Amino acid sequence: MEEEEEGLSASEGLSASEIEYVSYGGEHHLPLIMNLVDQELSEPYSIFTYRYFVYLWPHLSFLAFHKGKCVGTVVCKMGDHRHTFRGYIAMLVVLNPYRGRGIATELVTRSIKVMMESGCEEVTLEAEVTNKGALALYGRLGFIRAKRLFRYYLNGVDAFRLKLLFPRPEPSYYDDYGVEAQGIIGEM
Ligand SMILES: CC(C)(COP(=O)(O)OP(=O)(O)OC[C@H]1O[C@@H](n2cnc3c(N)ncnc32)[C@H](O)[C@@H]1OP(=O)(O)O)[C@@H](O)C(=O)NCCC(=O)NCCS
Repeated sequence: MEEEEEGLSASEGLSASEIEYVSYGGEHHLPLIMNLVDQELSEPYSIFTYRYFVYLWPHLSFLAFHKGKCVGTVVCKMGDHRHTFRGYIAMLVVLNPYRGRGIATELVTRSIKVMMESGCEEVTLEAEVTNKGALALYGRLGFIRAKRLFRYYLNGVDAFRLKLLFPRPEPSYYDDYGVEAQGIIGEM
């Protein structure tokens, strides 16, 4: 309670430029991530789960700081899945007093940018069907509801699998007809 009040007063009149975003920088960030996620997400995770994500894909996890305090985090991975190279957002949390200021949007956008630059074709995640905030946030970023997963969470709640598809680059004339085009040019 005390901490929440402290957080509330610290976040009053907060401007976006006061938030510092950093990608996962080592073991000292791990307890900060675990603390935030354990507080705010219904699903319990073991330290092995956290380590799996941040050790293998440190460049896909980001933390948001306000005056040295960690106020938000996103944890992700990427890899091959059924012939598709895809990104996956595993955890996203912003401390309650800091919500509604675009911090989650900035965290997720940074991860998605790295996924896109790394060649991912799509990004997926699961969200509780009752989580209006998360569903609105991802909807605004262009995610669609691909599937409903019955009683997906340990608390018995269903999930939506959300998916963001990256547009494929338009094939150029020479990509499709390069051989023919060369042939024609060669004959001329
Ligand atoms: C979901 C969560 C990460 C959003 O963090 P945030 O920093 O407040 O999000 P943003 O400020 O970037 O919100 C961006 C958009 O998301 C939507 N949104 C976010 N929270 C919302 C809420 N409670 N109700 C309705 N829409 C919401 C809005 O469309 C908002 O855009 P707007 O500000 O133009 O209206 C945060 O509420 C949270 O940590 N919740 C608990 C953990 C959780 O549910 N994580 C997601 C698991 S899938």
